[in-house]
Amino acid sequence: MKRDEFLHLFGFGAALLLTGCLGSCSSNTDDPQPGTTPGPGAGAIDFTLDVADPANARLNDPVFGYVYGANDQVIVAKTTAGSYVALSAACTHQGTSVQFQPGSSNFRCPNHGSLFSLGGAATQGPAVGALRSYTVAQTGSVLRITG
Ligand code: FES
Repeated sequence: MKRDEFLHLFGFGAALLLTGCLGSCSSNTDDPQPGTTPGPGAGAIDFTLDVADPANARLNDPVFGYVYGANDQVIVAKTTAGSYVALSAACTHQGTSVQFQPGSSNFRCPNHGSLFSLGGAATQGPAVGALRSYTVAQTGSVLRITG
């Protein structure tokens, strides 16, 4: 093998090694780092939900107390006081859907454990951003969620 051929092959191999390392040695996206995953933008949400519909039975179940709406973009929960709240469902850390905890009146992300208040504020990290809060108007058994 001639010197020029060796250098050409060696240079190509080194480039492959470097490319492979850069591709697999980059930052780990599973690390729980604070984030700011936004919910649906202002004015993007407008839907109704009938609390008497058997499909929404989990909303009135004291163990669950929540359902998702608007293609799972919004979580609607029934508080222990009997009122309803609606927040963006995607955790502001990395986007996992939060769940309502009726017993402690907060929302919990099952991924890394962030907690959010009934108003959507992050009360325990790693999430730092608030969940977007939506307006809930009740007429009879129908809730209209907007925002
Ligand atoms: S995705 Fe990490 S706490 Fe929710």
